[in-house]
Amino acid sequence: MSTHDRTPESTDDVVRYVTTCRVCGSEEWQEVVSFGEVPLANGFLEVTDSVAQERAYPLEVISCRECRLLSLTAVVDPQVLYRTYSYVTSDSETMARHMRTVAELARDRYGLAEGDLVVELGSNTGDQLLAFREAVGARVLGVDPARNLARIAEDRGVPTLPDYFDSATARAVAGEHGKASLILGRHVFAHIDDVADVLAGARELLTEDGLFTIEVPYAVDLVERLAFDTIYHEHLSYFLISTLDRLFSRHGLRTVDVERLAVHGGSVLVSAGRADGRWQTSERVRELIAAERDGGYLSDARYEAFATRVRRTCADLTALVRGLVAQGHRVAGYGASAKGTTLLNICGLSSEELEFCTDTTPQKQGRLTPGTHIPVLAPGDVTEQPDYYLLLAWNYAEEILAKESRFLNEHGGFIVPVPEPTVRTGAVSAK
Ligand code: TYD
Ligand code: ZN
Repeated sequence: MSTHDRTPESTDDVVRYVTTCRVCGSEEWQEVVSFGEVPLANGFLEVTDSVAQERAYPLEVISCRECRLLSLTAVVDPQVLYRTYSYVTSDSETMARHMRTVAELARDRYGLAEGDLVVELGSNTGDQLLAFREAVGARVLGVDPARNLARIAEDRGVPTLPDYFDSATARAVAGEHGKASLILGRHVFAHIDDVADVLAGARELLTEDGLFTIEVPYAVDLVERLAFDTIYHEHLSYFLISTLDRLFSRHGLRTVDVERLAVHGGSVLVSAGRADGRWQTSERVRELIAAERDGGYLSDARYEAFATRVRRTCADLTALVRGLVAQGHRVAGYGASAKGTTLLNICGLSSEELEFCTDTTPQKQGRLTPGTHIPVLAPGDVTEQPDYYLLLAWNYAEEILAKESRFLNEHGGFIVPVPEPTVRTGAVSAK
C-alpha cells in the first residue's frame, strides 16, 4: 500500500496524509520518490536533548496527474514544524542583493509607489520589508507566526503581526490598514497546506489593481538542477507555472507575470492580479507554460527520470565522501542548512563521516544536526580546518567559494553535492 492511500485511522495527531490535490482536487497521483522517514529539517537538537525522542516523518513526493502539482504526502502540523523555528533569513550579500531586486522590480515594472501598502507573509526578521521601505518609500506590514522573529522585526522598526496569514488575518489587516497594493510571500507559499484560504484572503485584501506576488522553488529547476535536497517537510508544494495558473484562476485571480531567479537553487517570482483588475497575462508567462508542456513536465516519464537521477547522485556522493574518509581525509559540513538535513539523512552521511558543520547562524551553533547529530560550530570556533568541506549551503556557492579562497588555496577542497558531486580546489577568483 502506498503512503497516500493510508486510511484516516493511521493518521496520527501531528501528521495529515494528502489524498486530494490542494490545487485541483484530483486524487490521481504518481509516486515520484520516497526518502523514508526523515527528521524535521530545522529540528536542530540541544546536546542535552534525548536522541531517542527525536521524531522522523515520512518524506515522499507525489505528482498530481491532473495539474502536475508536486506535493509531499505527509503534512506535519505547523505547530510542530515551526514551534522551535531556527531559520533566520541568511545574512548574506546574495540575499541582500536579491531583496533589493524584488523591491525594485515591484517599483519599476509594476508601478509600486511611495505610500502604497505592502503586506508580507512570512516576513521573518523584516529585511525584505526594509528593502521596500528604502527603494519605494512604501508603508509596510509583516505577518509572521514565529514570535521570536516578529519581535526582532518590530525592534528594527517593521510593524509585524505575530500570526499566520489566512482569510481572517487578511480581513483584519484590511480593516485596520486598508487594502494592499502588494501582498508578497517569499518562500512561504510552498509551505502552506490550505492555499485556498490564503488566496481568498489575498484576493480580499488586494486593491483592484494590486498584485499578489509569491516566490517559490520552481519545479522545473528542482528537476533540472536536481535540487532534491530542497525537499523537506516545510516544502509541501513544488509548482510549475501552469499549476499556479490553474490555482489562481480557481480563486478569482489572473497570472500576470513571472521572473526566474537563481535563489535557493532556482525559484520563480510569480505575480497574480484580481481577475476583475487591469492586469493582463504577460508573454513571459505564456512562454514558460508552453516550455513546461514541451519539456515533458505534464507526464510521468519526466518525474521517473528525476527519481533515478536522485538515487544515482546520492550514491555517488556517499561513495565520494566515504572514499575520502577512508583515505584518511578529514571532512566537515559547510552551512548547516535545512537542505543539508535532507541530503545527509537520505544519503546516509553522519558524524561517522563529518566531524562538524560550520554555520554562521547563532541559533544553530552549539547544537546537533537533525537525525545525523553532527555538532554545529561557529566558523570562528574551528581550531583545525578539515581537508574537505561538503557544501551544504550550495545555493551560496559563489559567495562562499570566493570568501573561502584562502582555505581553497592553502588547505583543501569543497565538495559541491548537486547536480552531481564535484570537488572544487585551488584558487577561486573573487567576484
Ligand atoms: P539557507 O540558504 O538559508 O537554506 P535552507 O533553506 O536550506 O536552510 O541555509 C544556508 C545556511 O548556511 C544557513 O544556516 C546559514 C549558513 N551559511 C553559512 O554558514 N555561511 C555562509 O557564508 C552563508 C552564506 C550561509
Ligand atoms: Zn492537482
